[in-house]
Amino acid sequence: MRRTVIAVGALLCGAGAVVAQQDVAVRQQNQMKEQGKHLYVTILKTAKGEIPYDQAAVDAAIAGLEVAVPKIPTVFATNPKQDVPNATFASSQKIWQSKADFDAKVPPVIKAIADVKGKIKDAASAKVAFDTVSAKCVDCHETYRVKLK
Ligand code: HEC
Repeated sequence: MRRTVIAVGALLCGAGAVVAQQDVAVRQQNQMKEQGKHLYVTILKTAKGEIPYDQAAVDAAIAGLEVAVPKIPTVFATNPKQDVPNATFASSQKIWQSKADFDAKVPPVIKAIADVKGKIKDAASAKVAFDTVSAKCVDCHETYRVKLK
C-alpha cells in the first residue's frame, strides 16, 4: 500500500515537472511573440504602408520593446529542455552552453531601440527603425533560434 502511494506520488511529481518545464518554454516563446508583435507587425507594417500611419501605435510599439527586451536574460534563465508543441521556432540548446554569449546579444538590441526612439515620423523612418532593430534581433536568432517548420 505504502509503496503504491510512493510510486503514485513520484509519478505525479514527474508529471508536475513536465508541465512546469513546458510553462518555461511557453513563457520564453511568449516573450518573443510579444516583441514580434511590436516589431514585425506594428513597425514593419507601418514601414510597408500596410497599415495607416499611427504615431501613438508606433510609439507604443517602441515603448513595448523597451520594456520587453531587457527581460530576455531572465526569461531565458532556465533550460526547459523541451520545445513548445507544434511551434514554428524553438530555442537552441547552445543557449545553455554559452549563456553569457546569449545574454551579450541583448544590449545591442536595447541600444538599437534607444537609437530609433522618437525618430519615427513616417513610413520611411519606420523602415529605417525596423532595419536597425531587426538586424540586432537577427544577430541572436542566427545562432540561438532553431526553425522547426
Ligand atoms: C538573446 C537572443 C535573442 C534576441 C536578442 C532576440 N530573440 Fe527572438 N528568439 C530567440 C530565441 C532563442 C527564439 C526561439 C524561442 C521560441 O520561439 O520558443 C526566438 C524566437 C523569436 C520569435 C518566434 C516566436 C515563435 O513564434 O515561436 C519571434 C517573433 C522573435 N524571436 C522576435 C524577436 C524580436 C522582434 C527581437 C528583437 C527586438 C528578438 N526576437 C530578439 C532569441 C532572441
